[in-house]
Amino acid sequence: MKTARPFAAVILAAGKGTRMKSDVHKVLHPIAGRAMLDHLLGVVDRLAPAHKIVVVGSGREQVEHLVSARGGETVVQEQQLGTGHAVRQAERELNGFAGDVLILYGDTPLVEAETMSRMLERLNGADAPAVVVVGFRPDDAGAYGRIIAGDDGAIQKMVEFKDATPEERAVDLCNSGLMAARAEDLFPLLGRVGNENAAGEYYLPDIVMLAQGDGRKSVVIEAQPWEMAGVNSRAELALVEAEWQRRRRLQAMADGVTLVAPDTVWFAHDTEVGRDCVIEPHVVFGPGVRVADCVTIRAFSHIEGATIARNAEIGPYARLRPGAEIDENAKVGNFVEVKKARLGKGAKANHLSYIGDADVGAGANIGAGTITCNYDGFFKYGTKIGEGAFIGSNSALVAPVSIGAGAIVGAGSVVTRDVAEDALALARGKQQVAPGWAARFRAKMAEKKLARK
Ligand code: UD1
Ligand code: CA
Repeated sequence: MKTARPFAAVILAAGKGTRMKSDVHKVLHPIAGRAMLDHLLGVVDRLAPAHKIVVVGSGREQVEHLVSARGGETVVQEQQLGTGHAVRQAERELNGFAGDVLILYGDTPLVEAETMSRMLERLNGADAPAVVVVGFRPDDAGAYGRIIAGDDGAIQKMVEFKDATPEERAVDLCNSGLMAARAEDLFPLLGRVGNENAAGEYYLPDIVMLAQGDGRKSVVIEAQPWEMAGVNSRAELALVEAEWQRRRRLQAMADGVTLVAPDTVWFAHDTEVGRDCVIEPHVVFGPGVRVADCVTIRAFSHIEGATIARNAEIGPYARLRPGAEIDENAKVGNFVEVKKARLGKGAKANHLSYIGDADVGAGANIGAGTITCNYDGFFKYGTKIGEGAFIGSNSALVAPVSIGAGAIVGAGSVVTRDVAEDALALARGKQQVAPGWAARFRAKMAEKKLARK
């Protein structure tokens, strides 16, 4: 997406976030496994901003790394004197910048790029409004600031709830806080904002009233309430997460993925799923998952940092951890955990296994209960299983160890030495059978018991 004029994004994040009751900065709390602020910066980046400035209060050191990694800057608002005062903190960074300024909030992460570009387009409309404000109509207008506007979107008044009359409070068009203005208008207006109001704060919305006093109009554009959802508490964090998931599930289905019970599937911010995949109920994706086409993921599987190739089958109750690589037509069945391991084409680990730090060749069969013993309490070691090998049930493969292609490991083996190609390895106690022993034993014991009565 391209904007008409260069723009700067100013993201407010200086609020204390008291209601989160957290040592972690509010804007770093994750939605779909990714910091709220990072979601927002990611969306902003799609519009190629000239500047990204995040206004922080305490906890700057927590936020700085993320912001600079995305090519933005942080500025500090030492005291939280209000939203107008917060935006002013970006003035020095934007000294001489002759573009538009988009004002966003680190705790309002669901705003879409389309809405941001609509704000900038409206600002650059033929009637050249001084300020564009994003309004929304929530189910419960609560204590939001109100926007009094005509049907044409021209704003007559911006009023904070605390300062509003009963008639103004009855208006359902609320101020989201998101605004756009030209830098050359914004900072002079902010310089004139005072704090004589019910909260004793420097209100950002006052710039609209000041511009009006100069004979310049401002306009409101509306957005969907879910897009404007903010996070002030853990409960709201969960609501925003739910909203993000709702949209992601719809996207997955629109992309050709079957979700049997959409509400029970949890995506991460970067999950990739191909066409004609079927995802059964209660599947959870952690970050870093790539799923190719035609994959079935059965119920109750947890998948993170894994790559799954076409036609593979996962679960039910599978756990794929970072570095799991499942090749075409491979199968990972119930109660199987795979970590940092490749399962080659058509290989199968169908039941109750741990496959870690391993490379399993194409077509190999890993019997029920097989464990790769990859850790000695100090270091991790690898296991290599050749193509077409057959590992009998309940085997322990003590790494480092290698099983040759086509080899067979007898069930219940503890394998500590390499097994050559096409060999048979048996590493278990030899079976002894004493014919009739059990019957003789029972007879003797029964006699003993009788004698004691
Ligand atoms: C503000 C608006 C209100 C709007 C509401 C939407 C003002 C005066 N009021 O309410 O009209 O309906 O947002 O949520 O603007 N912040 C700072 N520094 C400050 C104060 C706030 O960075 O000194 C940041 C906060 O981190 C937060 C955002 O600005 O992300 C909004 O602050 P908050 O106190 O939640 O909003 P209100 O002022 O109550
Ligand atoms: Ca808020």
